[in-house]
Amino acid sequence: MNLTLCLAVLFVSVAQVVTSPTSLTRRDRHIAWRPRILTPVKDSIWYLDTMQNVTWDTSDIPEQKVHENGTLVLARPTENDEHLYLKYPLAEDFPLALGYVSFFLTDRPKGDGFAVCLMGDSGDLSELFTIA
Ligand SMILES: *[C@@H]1O[C@H](CO)[C@@H](O)[C@H](O)[C@H]1NC(C)=O
Ligand SMILES: *[C@@H]1O[C@H](CO)[C@@H](O)[C@H](O)[C@H]1NC(C)=O
Repeated sequence: MNLTLCLAVLFVSVAQVVTSPTSLTRRDRHIAWRPRILTPVKDSIWYLDTMQNVTWDTSDIPEQKVHENGTLVLARPTENDEHLYLKYPLAEDFPLALGYVSFFLTDRPKGDGFAVCLMGDSGDLSELFTIA
């Protein structure tokens, strides 16, 4: 699950890349950066109305991304659909280079099978966790 793309944020250029492996390598190295989410991990529990903190690996951040902001959205992926809660991001306009963002978790459904998607120009889904 960790390396799953958040498909909803793939732009046309990336869609083209999928059918053309040669440019994938180039784009991967020079443009698209898919930060690996470190936390939450599998079986984490997020309690509603508490502060939460999502962290990701910035060790391989490309120079072009150092000054870019990201958006963090909740997802509840099934086999066929990532179910991104795009309308109500958990956090927006935070520096990708920081490696973490914290926010107050409120007004969300409870249950298991949630993930977060960190979006720059391509997204990464976290492991599945629970909201309680
Ligand atoms: C979030 O995680 C980062 C990196 O581990 C840490 O520096 C920061 O203090 C944490 N923030 C909160 C509110 O826990
Ligand atoms: C990133 O977000 C900050 C606010 O957190 C804003 O001041 C800044 O203009 C944003 N940068 C970009 C490139 O959008």
